[in-house]
Amino acid sequence: MSLLIKNGEIITADSRYKADIYVEDETITRIGHNLEVPPATEVMDASGKYVFPGFIDPHVHIYLPFMATFAKDTHQTGSIAALMGGTTTYIEMCCPNRNDDALEGYHHWKSLAEGNSACDYTFHMAVTKYDDKTEAQLREIVADGISSFKIFLSYKNFFGVDDGEMYQTLMLAKELGVITTAHCENAELVGRLQAKLLAEGKTGSAFHEPSRPVEVEAEGTGRFATFLETTGATGYVVHLSCAAALNAAMAAKMRGVPLYIESVIPHFLLDKTLAEQPGVEGAKYVMSPPLREKWNQKVLWDALAQGFIDTVGTDHCPFDVGQKALGKDAFTAIPNGIPAIEDRINLLYTYGVSRGNLGLHRFVDAASTKAAKLFGLFPRKGTIAVGSDADLVVYDPKAKGTISVRTQHVNNDYNGFEGFEIDGKPTVVTVRGKIAVREGQFVGQKGRGKLLKREPMYF
Ligand code: URP
Ligand code: ZN
Ligand code: ZN
Repeated sequence: MSLLIKNGEIITADSRYKADIYVEDETITRIGHNLEVPPATEVMDASGKYVFPGFIDPHVHIYLPFMATFAKDTHQTGSIAALMGGTTTYIEMCCPNRNDDALEGYHHWKSLAEGNSACDYTFHMAVTKYDDKTEAQLREIVADGISSFKIFLSYKNFFGVDDGEMYQTLMLAKELGVITTAHCENAELVGRLQAKLLAEGKTGSAFHEPSRPVEVEAEGTGRFATFLETTGATGYVVHLSCAAALNAAMAAKMRGVPLYIESVIPHFLLDKTLAEQPGVEGAKYVMSPPLREKWNQKVLWDALAQGFIDTVGTDHCPFDVGQKALGKDAFTAIPNGIPAIEDRINLLYTYGVSRGNLGLHRFVDAASTKAAKLFGLFPRKGTIAVGSDADLVVYDPKAKGTISVRTQHVNNDYNGFEGFEIDGKPTVVTVRGKIAVREGQFVGQKGRGKLLKREPMYF
């Protein structure tokens, strides 16, 4: 089966031109003008539309046993939501906790995604302890096609690793050519501050941010960078939320430390006053690192526009209102996280490109190309080129809409971006040459998504 997308304006991280794209089976085989194609080809007119490479979300949680409950999406609901919003590949955090066996966890996560995801996917492998089995298990997982690790410097006794375990992970990552992604907060300080606030009777969601202030994130970011500098490993800070942590990361980048920065869409658009609302309304906005004072948002947009922030993900992690209410007596029991997989691209396009905060090429780079390059997927993913997978997003920059829980595909009963206006939207989305979204409807194939094998990058 072949497909011709005609008259669209192709936008990649470094080029912009009008041309037709011809797709055979799963691959882009020709790009040009007046292409002659077989009669059975489906022809789609993209006049007045952009054609972007399929977007990549580098940080999602689909299956996540966490904080006495589970994140709500399945690989079916999460992938359909991703596709509806133009994301054709996601990288899920595979997160067995400290008491679990890492290799068993890896196979479990894989089995849940396989045959269920409608779009392509891969994993960051979380290293949540480093015992005598860890090295051999991680070697096996990398040999199976995983080329990034994840460590948590927070969530002590659950996902968190200590400095010794971080050192061992980075040494192995360096040897294997694997990039290590890190949640950077100082676990000890978080624990002390949580205990102090609760002892003072400060139990509401408003106290989540004061228990993880910007210094706590800046310290974690700086410490991670120091360990990278010492081991020679390459790192990637996930969900950086504020100017203080950005300064710590930038200081390291300026010293030549191979450190990349991800921020996630909530931190560009939502601020800490939302988590200060009473009751469950505030709990809906509890995530870690927390939402910050609003002025940080401009710092993040500027750093993104200039390429200091490399990628924009979501940290998609849906918990419903009932789950959020688990923390009604103590903010420390509120499941951390917020969904965004469906809305990331429309929000980034609208509040970035359309409102003048972000160039069109940087938008594609931050939302697709850079992640493909960092995580061993480029040029198969992350660009529009002959030989690349035909993951394409035909995007109507004139479409208008409003985000609402009523129209979302994410399996959750609220949307943290409820009421946000949107200036553009995907009209057609393809995954390896097959149409998955057409005019706002999912028409794809559940379970067609593939686990992407990645080569170690030899950083
Ligand atoms: O609050 C968050 N971010 N929840 C998901 C787990 C994590 O830290 O990424
Ligand atoms: Zn995290
Ligand atoms: Zn996360």
